[in-house]
Amino acid sequence: MRRNQIVLVLVWVVGIYATTLLCATVDYDHRALLIDGKRRVLISGSIHYPRSTPEMWPDLIQKSKDGGLDVIETYVFWNQHEPVRGQYNFEGRNDLVRFVKAVAAAGLYVHLRIGPYVCAEWNYGGFPLWLHFIPGIKFRTDNEPFKAEMKRFTAKIVDMMKQEKLYASQGGPIILSQIENEYGNIDGPYGAAGKSYINWAASMATSLDTGVPWVMCQQADAPDPIINTCNGFYCDQFTPNSNKKPKMWTENWTGWFLSFGGATPRRPVEDIAFAVARFFQRGGTFQNYYMYHGGTNFDRTSGGPFITTSYDYDAPIDEYGIIRQPKWGHLKDLHKAIKLCEEALIATDPTISSPGPKLEVAVYKTGDKCAAFLANDNDNSDATVKFNGNSYQLPAWSVSILPDCKNVVLNTAKINSASMISSFTTESSKADTSLEASTSGWSWISEPVGISKADSFAKIGLAEQINTTADRSDYLWYSLSVDLQDDADSQAVLHVESLGHALHAFINGKLAGSSQGINSNKRALNVDIPITPVAGKNTIDLLSLTVGLQNYGSFFDIWGAGITGPVILKGLKNGNTVDLSSQKWTYQVGLKGEDLGLSSGSSGQWNSQSTLPKNQPFIWYKTNFAAPTGSNPVAIDFTGMGKGEAWVNGQSIGRYWPTNAAPNGVCSDSCNYRGPYTSTKCQTNCGKPSQTLYHVPRSWLKPDGNILVLFEESGGDPTKISFGTKQVASLCAHISDSHLPPVEMWNSDTKSGKKVGPVLSLKCPHQDQVISSIKFASYGTPLGTCGDYYHGRCSSNKAMSILQKACIGSSSCSVGVSTDTFGDPCKGVAKSLAVEATCT
Ligand code: GAL
Repeated sequence: MRRNQIVLVLVWVVGIYATTLLCATVDYDHRALLIDGKRRVLISGSIHYPRSTPEMWPDLIQKSKDGGLDVIETYVFWNQHEPVRGQYNFEGRNDLVRFVKAVAAAGLYVHLRIGPYVCAEWNYGGFPLWLHFIPGIKFRTDNEPFKAEMKRFTAKIVDMMKQEKLYASQGGPIILSQIENEYGNIDGPYGAAGKSYINWAASMATSLDTGVPWVMCQQADAPDPIINTCNGFYCDQFTPNSNKKPKMWTENWTGWFLSFGGATPRRPVEDIAFAVARFFQRGGTFQNYYMYHGGTNFDRTSGGPFITTSYDYDAPIDEYGIIRQPKWGHLKDLHKAIKLCEEALIATDPTISSPGPKLEVAVYKTGDKCAAFLANDNDNSDATVKFNGNSYQLPAWSVSILPDCKNVVLNTAKINSASMISSFTTESSKADTSLEASTSGWSWISEPVGISKADSFAKIGLAEQINTTADRSDYLWYSLSVDLQDDADSQAVLHVESLGHALHAFINGKLAGSSQGINSNKRALNVDIPITPVAGKNTIDLLSLTVGLQNYGSFFDIWGAGITGPVILKGLKNGNTVDLSSQKWTYQVGLKGEDLGLSSGSSGQWNSQSTLPKNQPFIWYKTNFAAPTGSNPVAIDFTGMGKGEAWVNGQSIGRYWPTNAAPNGVCSDSCNYRGPYTSTKCQTNCGKPSQTLYHVPRSWLKPDGNILVLFEESGGDPTKISFGTKQVASLCAHISDSHLPPVEMWNSDTKSGKKVGPVLSLKCPHQDQVISSIKFASYGTPLGTCGDYYHGRCSSNKAMSILQKACIGSSSCSVGVSTDTFGDPCKGVAKSLAVEATCT
């Protein structure tokens, strides 16, 4: 070999060596996932890339990392990527590779849940509609056409990831993948074919050779080597189906989804922290928050029916990308506490004992490593637990974490993190910036009632809606003309039976009645519409509409929608009844305005001369507007409107429906975190519209000349619409003298020899902000909640000046909560410090 050949070979060998160094092996054993042979405790959180914008991703991922996450979990949304069979879309919000790379850039891992069935409150569970029309297809069972398509798409995604070298085995961030989703929850009705389908799915996934493990969630019979994982509000009781698999939790629901017509779910962070600590106490090593950032169901992506456009989920990062405090901060502290135990946790199984009713001690001990978790499962009584000769106070429904088996670093019920009140400032509440004033006014176009498009067609009998529209639109017109010569002026009733999701009935061109389903009764929508027939021809135009297609349940794909019938005219003269179900109906899929592309605002004959129609159904509205100034997230408040869809600069911001309100009587003002949580336990917003504010991503806006288009279906006044920006109004903290020192101070007392006590810390949400005022400060026995604190019986007169001195002008500040700092305003009484501050 010549000299330069030797150099080349050397470069090649070194190159290969360097690449192998970057590649990680991912494996698992009974205790944990192993990355490069080392067991890991991993904290993960779900962020679904199409529910935010690429411009938002880096910030959301950084906030996840700052919150202590190691992994970002996302589903892959088939219907986004392949809207037409064989035509792929990986652009913009669908740019999966960009998303995975953004996670990698932040130094985090990815769990890619390919599904391709995803549930996720996503339209049709993520299945593209064309799949439904493949001859002979049956979804999610042992059916050749379905399996062929599922395999093709799964392989497509895997290949794409491989080409970009995104698997950990290739040096990328993906350490885990999921196939199917919670099939085990609904597989009963599929019988034996369901069982063989799952075995097929497992071997199909494995054959794709990703080099990293696959999981199936809620699938107790997941075949080896697939790991079966748990989803739920609590997963401490879960055990995988083999002693060779680790205990993993793929969905810890941080809140719940919101429905139009439903109250707003809220899950207290003390309960989430309790559930997480219980899971790690009982041998878990991988835990994922579903959702860590929920985001927005733009466009017509929301599933359902009746899932709102907001998918906020009460997650640690809110819909708009602002951290939700104290949820985010308390979980961050919890993650640090758990990580302090990591070496002990991965070294061994816990030894679990019960020192009393509903009390549990778990110890992870090997050699010189020891970590312990002490739990009080009682939902109303505090307890004292003796452990290793010491006594520990455990509030009800809490876990204390002891990274050295002696000192408590964190108790799940004691929140050190500050809380935050964020609020919307509507532009119209500031003088002269109302939408009307800042825009050139509104123009409009009427959408015709009944059949208006050339592609309408006639058919005997009532057509099933999804089969007819293929979900190209929410809307399907069913039209009929009936001769009621002899029944003129009778007080008749048109009875319509429908699967929903909502219906508007027009008799002789006039809106005669509307009806909508509710989420809790998804399937039936029967309505009686009073009608007074005229002599001769009467037109009946029924507009049936879907509000997001079903995404969950056995055979959810064939539940169907629309008018099933019977459609009957009752109470005609002489008590006659006419069944119209089998007549020849004329159908129109979608709206004329949809075909004309009115949503972009550019086409169409927009009318701005005559009086703006208000509170009338079926109007397209258009206006120009200037973006709210600043960089805070933007929302449109649709109060005043009825129901419809909205577009900003041609991008759909989703369905709006501010008139659909939450019922009364299902909310609780105060939320007791103690005791098992359910999705309806701590709801808020009763009696109010489920969603009035709709997110407009900043990156979709220009400083001015933005076009807003609405299609209003039931009637509204667009001049009432306003713009809001979301900001943090107040920072609060309430720390008692029995709180633990901050997690970061762990071990600092042993190092410094000084005992560290509880500390109250405040930090402005943006780096360029400073604390500008202290609205409230009280050391003693203050009462109330953030935004509403008041002095109790005892208070130190120094609190305000101490806090002002320590905090004003700084972006963050910390003050020790002790009589050393504040003096003792009431000896022998348990004291605390409550502070509310503002940042500017
Ligand atoms: C689970 C499902 C998720 C999501 C969640 C509720 O059953 O796996 O995709 O739908 O429920 O938010």
